[in-house]
Amino acid sequence: MSKVISIAHPNFALIKYWGKADLKSNTPAMSSISLTIDTLSSTTKISKNRQTNENIWILNGKKQEQMRQLDPTLEYLNRISNYTSGCIIESNNNFPTSAGLASSASGIASLVTAYDRLFGLNLKLDSLVQASILGSGSAPRSLLGGFVILDAEIGLNCETICQPEDWPLSVLICITDYKEKTISSREGMEISRKTSPLYKSWLDSNKKDIQTAKAAIDEKSFNNLGEVAEKNCYKMLEVMKSSDPSINYLSKQTIDCINKVRKIRDKGVDLFYTLDAGPQLKIICKPEDKETIKRDLEKHPSVLSLVEANIGFGARVINES
Ligand code: DP6
Repeated sequence: MSKVISIAHPNFALIKYWGKADLKSNTPAMSSISLTIDTLSSTTKISKNRQTNENIWILNGKKQEQMRQLDPTLEYLNRISNYTSGCIIESNNNFPTSAGLASSASGIASLVTAYDRLFGLNLKLDSLVQASILGSGSAPRSLLGGFVILDAEIGLNCETICQPEDWPLSVLICITDYKEKTISSREGMEISRKTSPLYKSWLDSNKKDIQTAKAAIDEKSFNNLGEVAEKNCYKMLEVMKSSDPSINYLSKQTIDCINKVRKIRDKGVDLFYTLDAGPQLKIICKPEDKETIKRDLEKHPSVLSLVEANIGFGARVINES
């Protein structure tokens, strides 16, 4: 086989990872629960570099000067495959990169999936998780579809806890800004770990939030899930804010959107929302309410565009030759 193309989708955490247990292995200090979406995707083509030992990474058509984010993942996989030469990696995102839409998670998950097939490794999930985590702590969750847990308590076990078809919720993403973030999640969470007076209680509350969210997903209780997800999100935002220097990824437009979305909820529409390291607002709702929410948000001046998604599937190979 000379080239493989794979696809993976971003995932949004409902119970967040913000802080590492170990920098070198990039191990999250806490468990997280996410949902993988469809529509947005990263596609990665990988082939062996027959000319040189160099790894080449072309992202959205642009050759990257730095391989830093991919190197640990490639080194891990090369050790398993005994490959000492380079690879050519071409990744494309059909959505804004590094803007709080989890492009690194889908990018890394698609790369690991494509590499595994190109070298015929057939790795077990725990090795795919290890390879992905070295690139991004949230990336293993994009290997899988539906609601996914990445459990830091039990050896970084990653599994789907509810399949997309078992609870088909809808997701609406309000894009409020296309700019790349100025401070990466990696930098931001290290600042928080070292300086936020709230970091310890954030860490201590993780187990309970995970249990509550898991129970809500088991029972398919939309309200319970929404409640714990929003509380968890705001706790993360407080940890960011109380860091030194204080970290804020939200813009005025994000706040405008939040206010609008709360008004829609006050009218009796079931929805909840979450935010990550960026200004985009992600709304989770029932499919039957999607059109009503869309209509209310479409013309809002702070919404540059509205992306619709459903719960999606995990990373997979789409072409090989
Ligand atoms: C706010 O996985 O991007 O989206 O491991 O340093 O690459 P690194 O960080 P990353 O952080 C994700 C942070 C978050 C919350 C989450 O997705 O759990």
